[in-house]
Amino acid sequence: MAKSTITFEDINVTVTVPAGTRIIEVSEKVGSAITYGCREGDCGTCLMKVTEGWNHLSEPSVLEDKILRENMAGKHNRLACQAQVLGGTISVKPV
Ligand code: FES
Repeated sequence: MAKSTITFEDINVTVTVPAGTRIIEVSEKVGSAITYGCREGDCGTCLMKVTEGWNHLSEPSVLEDKILRENMAGKHNRLACQAQVLGGTISVKPV
């Protein structure tokens, strides 16, 4: 199975996870400041900035797109509870 390497820049921790993992599943465990509220793509708490590997994440759903727009998120912002890693190297940090 494909693996992804995720770096949480705020705490300088890098972890390797299987493809299909959602970022929020790891960020809480390692102690990153990317935290969650609803975990359903509805509250915007888990908003993060993807600084590297943007194209190694699943496409935003219609719901995620809506929340990103409502939060006036930048082009490289995603919801950690929705973004699934697909492989490759990814770096993220809290917004
Ligand atoms: S935790 Fe609510 S949108 Fe991600």
